[in-house]
Amino acid sequence: MRPRSHSSRSALTAIILAAGEGTRMRSATPKVLHTLSGRTLLDWVLRAAQAAGARRRVVVVGHQAATVRAALGPKFETVLQAQQHGTGHAVKMARSKLKGTHGDILVLCGDAPLVRPETLKRLVQTHRGSKAQATVLTARVADPCGYGRILRDEAASDQVAAIIEEREATEAERTITEINSGAYCFQAEALWASLGAIQNQNSKHEYYLTDIVRLLRQQGALVSAVEAEEGSEVLGINTRQELAQAARLMNQRTLDRWMSAGVSFQDPGTTWVDAGARIGPDSQVLANTQILGESVIGPRNQIGPNSLVVASRTGAEVRLLASVVEHAVLGNRVKVGPFAHLRPGTRLGDDVRIGNFAEINRSQLGASVKMGHMSYLGDTRVGARANIGAGTITANWDGRAKHPTVIEAEAFIGSGAVLIAPCRVGRRALVGAGAVVKARTRIPEGSLAVGVPARVIKKRKR
Ligand code: UD1
Ligand code: MG
Repeated sequence: MRPRSHSSRSALTAIILAAGEGTRMRSATPKVLHTLSGRTLLDWVLRAAQAAGARRRVVVVGHQAATVRAALGPKFETVLQAQQHGTGHAVKMARSKLKGTHGDILVLCGDAPLVRPETLKRLVQTHRGSKAQATVLTARVADPCGYGRILRDEAASDQVAAIIEEREATEAERTITEINSGAYCFQAEALWASLGAIQNQNSKHEYYLTDIVRLLRQQGALVSAVEAEEGSEVLGINTRQELAQAARLMNQRTLDRWMSAGVSFQDPGTTWVDAGARIGPDSQVLANTQILGESVIGPRNQIGPNSLVVASRTGAEVRLLASVVEHAVLGNRVKVGPFAHLRPGTRLGDDVRIGNFAEINRSQLGASVKMGHMSYLGDTRVGARANIGAGTITANWDGRAKHPTVIEAEAFIGSGAVLIAPCRVGRRALVGAGAVVKARTRIPEGSLAVGVPARVIKKRKR
């Protein structure tokens, strides 16, 4: 027999509903693949389910199933709901895959990404503690519009009598401000036994999972409720407006977390930090700045105002002003900007200084290199302490292929030089202002080259 690390009674399996089209988004992208803080809605829900203890997570896919499956990757189990006949029907599709599963089943909506792992843990714990057949995660909200309403049992108010969808609700029921989050915990056997009884006699002719509550109660089962602490946690995303609202809430959570870890934000309202990014202590992020992807900002940085950092890494005490940095790595005490663009594959050593209107692409600059003004380096390796004069350009593209340029340590490139790649400027060599270094030229160490095309007029000292 296979050893078991936990009893099947305490097993927790999650079913995530992600088959719907999301018509109200008016999008060619399936709703659950829209992103929030750098992760898809579905990814947020999958992570929360895992953090709540669900080892097995089964995703119900349908609308654009292939796209959703591709986004999920091979790690997750999926079941197909070929036609979307409602949330009850979607769960039924997962039954064949989970037949014989014991323990509890967490059902989550793929469009409710703000639910916190702690809240789901509380849902599961309360469910188990109360021995209910089902437990619903609810919330009290100011505006319940669009959600299913919770009808509490008149005799036992800790019990849920039914969930009424807004479309089916009476005027009086619509005034109820306790809503269904769309997250539930079920005893597996009770769920499988009652699913089949759900009917589709409603205004949408859909099988509503929410009807299972009334069915369970009719059989004398217990259905308890757990209230989320904040109404915002259960926000279901059905429209672009709700996506924007959720994005702001998620971002605020992320900023709060970093503020607690010692990071300052000058203007949280205009600052966006993706969930996967990290920021070192005593760093300051100034207004109108975005730090995206899996960026890692070192300690004591000053980033912004008006900056965009994508999937990049910075050392300590970096200053970035009004600049764009993508897939780049910056050493300690680097200063960038204003108005610089560091493109993918840029690597800057310690104490590098990049000034106004500089663009760097697939290039490596050694420690203390200075590149102050209006320059472009592409496919270039620059040695330590070299100086790149104003307006220097590496012509790395000949119309067919890219070619490399090497500028060795302590070389000095005068203003307005054009270095036609491939070429090499030796250590401590000086290229005069306005020189055009032709392709395949090697300027020897310590020499001076000037003119168009550049000629070496002073050989290196021995
Ligand atoms: C649902 C609930 C409502 C709750 C709200 C919370 C029902 C009937 N209603 O309404 O009580 O307040 O969520 O956000 O359950 N899906 C499928 N297959 C389908 C239909 C939907 O997989 O056939 C998926 C969707 O992709 C989505 C989730 O189920 O991720 C919820 O569906 P949605 O249409 O958004 O339901 P709501 O109207 O929001
Ligand atoms: Mg919804």
